[in-house]
Amino acid sequence: AGAAAWAGGLFDPRLVAPGGDLVARTEAARRRAGARTVSARLNPRPVTLDLGGRQVQTWGYQDSAPGPLLRARAGDVLRVEVANGLATETSVHWHGVALRNDMDGVPGVTQRSIAAGGTHTYEFTAPDPGTYFYHPHSGVQLDRALYGVLVVDDPHEAGRYDQEWIVVLDDWVDGTGRTPDDVLASLQSMGGHDDMAGMNGMAGMEHGGMSGMSMGGMESMTSPLLGGAGDVVYPHYLINGRAPDAPVTLTGRPRQRVRIRLVNAASDTAFRIALGGHRLTVTHTDGFPVTPTTCDALVLGMGERADVTVDLGDGVFPLVAVAEGKSGQGVAVVRTGAGSPPAATVHPAELDLRVLLTGGLSPADAVKLERRKADRVHRLELGGSMMPYRWTINGTTTDKLDPLLVGQGERVRLEFVNQSTMFHPMHVHGHTFAVTDTGVRKDTVIVVPKQTVAVEFDATNPGQWMTHCHNIYHAETGMMINLAYQ
Ligand code: C2O
Ligand code: CU
Repeated sequence: AGAAAWAGGLFDPRLVAPGGDLVARTEAARRRAGARTVSARLNPRPVTLDLGGRQVQTWGYQDSAPGPLLRARAGDVLRVEVANGLATETSVHWHGVALRNDMDGVPGVTQRSIAAGGTHTYEFTAPDPGTYFYHPHSGVQLDRALYGVLVVDDPHEAGRYDQEWIVVLDDWVDGTGRTPDDVLASLQSMGGHDDMAGMNGMAGMEHGGMSGMSMGGMESMTSPLLGGAGDVVYPHYLINGRAPDAPVTLTGRPRQRVRIRLVNAASDTAFRIALGGHRLTVTHTDGFPVTPTTCDALVLGMGERADVTVDLGDGVFPLVAVAEGKSGQGVAVVRTGAGSPPAATVHPAELDLRVLLTGGLSPADAVKLERRKADRVHRLELGGSMMPYRWTINGTTTDKLDPLLVGQGERVRLEFVNQSTMFHPMHVHGHTFAVTDTGVRKDTVIVVPKQTVAVEFDATNPGQWMTHCHNIYHAETGMMINLAYQ
């Protein structure tokens, strides 16, 4: 595939081409004899969603949000045909998957956009087990409810839990008569004051809340205080597509052990999650195993995932996702016995007890990155402002940024230096990095205001990979850069 044909956007023709030999060889090395091919079809289209007694016009991969659950085993080939039923172009990105670069779903870099009415087939090996998700990499389409979960099962992991629930969090802008594109336009043209959440509260961010957080430190931590975390005030926060006054019910039996796969698919909101009457044992973040760690509540930034296990009590319990620094929450009901459902405003005590951020976890032995001196260090200063609404890396925006160069086989270190007053969940495509301070393996990590988080990875997946804030309004207005192999 002559990648230069879609040169434009962030694609750099002087660097490793997404459709080139090196990418094809890397994929060939990943393929296993006898691997299954798992086929699926996605049909993004205009839909009417029922948020629970409230119908909204939006776009979806099916008639409810999230989109269809895709499920494969590690090593399987996933073959997904996308039939674009939208009146505009789209794309599908496989968030967190270390896949071949030309299937990464970034228009202008790894492929052409899928035209309105057009089709496109993604086909790639899914090498690592874990909880992933998919969404367009086209403007702010993610915020229209175009998202779904991809679970890659570990064939060697069985019998550790009785049941599994998939819980997807979202912030909801549509239904107010405005689309995410309208919101982006108003943020850009009016400087954002129309949509601004309070900017205060950032000062309260505890140092060490993120990368410097030790296991001991977590004990004393109450709230991670993400403060005026988002730029957009949303009318609803959803769990599995439902607003809190008409929540979904997750049913189980007392004493069952449940694995909950949590995905934050929101565009502008970090959530603090707790299950009333229960503690959460975190076993994985962004698909990779951690030393199992128990907490009362967990913070997930946009694009982050966490798997937790819970031993169910007997009764009815609220699963609550509080929008950090905003007013509002998502609610789901966990039911194992008799009892009346919780109110939409329920606030379980667990939310304010021992709260964990995923970057502070420690990796399971099997996924520790061996210590090694970095061959290449890139420092990314994260800045920007609400007025004008513009988010920057090293003082400038996406269109003016040269690629971050890496060499095949190198140990690469990225230093995210947050000089702004907002938190930024920083995501690297195609790789899972180790957070330097804790070693935890992730692909998306929250960098709180005025802090630095360094991450390291081995450059073994050649191509051109977007590295950006997963607040998609930040990414769209400048906080995105190409990380490209020489
Ligand atoms: Cu979910 Cu470019 O990412
Ligand atoms: Cu950001």
